[in-house]
Order: sequence, then structure tokens, then C-alpha cells
Amino acid sequence: MNTGTIKKNQKIKITGAGGYLGNLISEEFVKAGYKVSGINRNLLYGDSDLLKNELKGADAIINLAGAPILQRWTNKNKGTIYTSRITTTQKLVKAIHLLLPHQRPKKVISASAIGIYKTGEYHDENSNRFDSGFVGKVVLDWENALEELPENIQKNVFRIGLVLGKKAKTIQYLLLPFKLGLGATIGNGKQAFPFIHEKDVAKAFLWAAEKYQTTATFNLTAPKEITNKEFTKAFAKSLNRPAFLFIPGLIFRLLYGDAAKLITESPAVSSKKLLESGFHFKYPDIDSALKQITS
Ligand SMILES: NC(=O)c1ccc[n+]([C@@H]2O[C@H](COP(=O)([O-])OP(=O)(O)OC[C@H]3O[C@@H](n4cnc5c(N)ncnc54)[C@H](OP(=O)(O)O)[C@@H]3O)[C@@H](O)[C@H]2O)c1
Repeated sequence: MNTGTIKKNQKIKITGAGGYLGNLISEEFVKAGYKVSGINRNLLYGDSDLLKNELKGADAIINLAGAPILQRWTNKNKGTIYTSRITTTQKLVKAIHLLLPHQRPKKVISASAIGIYKTGEYHDENSNRFDSGFVGKVVLDWENALEELPENIQKNVFRIGLVLGKKAKTIQYLLLPFKLGLGATIGNGKQAFPFIHEKDVAKAFLWAAEKYQTTATFNLTAPKEITNKEFTKAFAKSLNRPAFLFIPGLIFRLLYGDAAKLITESPAVSSKKLLESGFHFKYPDIDSALKQITS
């Protein structure tokens, strides 16, 4: 395996660089001294030779591209959600194969999602109890597309939980109702709430580039697990507001159709493997994460 750390001043190329996590991760790598640039979206759908030329000389590639998954799952939207992850990743892998071995990146670090797992159950990375619906298929095919990478390229996949941060959409949607004392538990609130602070997402990608040296898949969620009800309580407390309400899952179903399950159901996820591999979380629990977000 072509392991080794990525050294400062080396080149990092990112798909989906213009998005929420793309910006955060780019910033983290730039601060750490790397040369970072985004891969234009059109290249991910176009001629493989052009993409190959774009990738030449990159020491690591970070793969984040994907159309938003929380939207009504019409056939058209489902197609976009699927191809924006699977087709683009296949294209990336094909272009890497076209490079001469010495021109290839040492590492590919890719986003994935905990939506790969069956909801209502507890999973570590050895679990193969996958979601049998649309999300499960998208995420599994997304990860499988990376399997075709040349053997000697280190491949790290992060199954990311619900990202919380000052700029996270979740927090932006929730801030006003919670500030007005209208914070609410969803359904019975017993469903898992596998969150991760945005800073820890960025740190984990940098850690995989700088410190970790083998191919591996990790769950990327905060180690202190909580339920939706516990999140509601903690968020209201961090804003010094009450949160007595609950929102029936039906409301989200009316808004988002089948995609509502992204909000109302969730797998419970262990991040023990990441901890045991030497990653240190800056925000391991919900109180520390929310303190940073609401301060
Ligand atoms: N945020 C979370 O809570 C979370 C949790 C689990 C997994 N993830 C995954 O992590 C990745 C990044 O998430 P994010 O929150 O940064 O998402 P985001 O803000 O929606 O950004 C995704 C980026 O993907 C690219 N993109 C959008 N539509 C595309 C299309 N049709 N074809 C190709 N590329 C397209 C765009 O980048 P360009 O404008 O640069 O092309 C976009 O900015 C996504 O794949 C997401 O599924 C996120």
C-alpha cells in the first residue's frame, strides 16, 4: 500500500468544495499549510482525460460532492441525489486509473453517511445491517464506487452523522423556534441523534491525511451518544429557553414525503473505532458542542 503522511505544502483537491463541509475542510487544510483547490463540478461529469489532467500532481483527494439529500424524493431528485454521488465518484476513480502510478494521489478521503445503516438499531463499522431503502442504496453504492480505486492508494471513508455547527443548516433552521421557546422533540424523542460538531469533521479529514496510514472506514459521530429528546433539552438549555413541545413525525412527512425519515428516524452509531485509532474529538459531547455553537 502506498501509505505515508501527506506533507505540508502538498496539493489537496476537493470535489464538492463549494459546499458547507467543503468550505470548512478547505479552511482546515489551508490553515495547516496545504495548497487546496476545488475540482469543478463539470469535470466530474465530462471527459475523463480532462479530469485526469485536473488530478495530476494532487497528493490527496477529498470527495464530498453530492446534491442535498433532504428534499422531496421525486424520481428526478432521486436521480440527481444518486448520480451526484455515484457517477461522480466512478468518474473520479476512472480518472485516477488513467494517471500513471507515480502521478496518482497517495490518499482518497471520502464522505459517506450514517444513512447507510438500518434505523432503530446500533451499529459499529462491522455492521452490515444496512438500510434497505433509497438512502441505504445511495450510500452503499457510493462507498462501493470507491472500492475500484487502485489497491495502493490509501482510502478512508467517513460515515458522517448529523453535522452541527454555527453555519449548519440544522442549527439555522432550529435557532429561531428554540430562541422563541418553541423548541420541540420530534415524535417520541427516543430515536438516536448521532451528531458531530463541524470542527471535528474538518479535523478528522486532516487527521486521515496527516496521521492515519491505512485504508479504513470510520463512523464519524461524537462519542457521547444521545437521543433526539436529549438534544432538544440540551439545545433549549444552551439558549436558556424551555422546550416542552413535541412535533409529530407526520408534519415532516407532509413536508418531505418519504425523505422525512431522515429527520424522524435514525440509526444509533458507535465511533469507538475512530477513538481507538487515535483521533481526538474536540467536542465529544452535546453540551460542549452546543456551547461553542450558541456562544
Ligand atoms: N452536512 C451533513 O450533515 C452531512 C452528513 C452526512 C454526510 N454528508 C455528506 O457530505 C457531503 C458534503 O456535505 P455538505 O453538507 O457540505 O453538502 P452541501 O453543502 O450541499 O455541498 C455539497 C456540494 O456538492 C456539490 N454538488 C451539489 N450538487 C451537485 C450535483 N448535482 N452534482 C455534483 N456535485 C454537486 C456542490 O459543490 P460544488 O459547488 O463545488 O460543485 C455542493 O456545494 C455530501 O455528499 C453529504 O451527503 C453531509
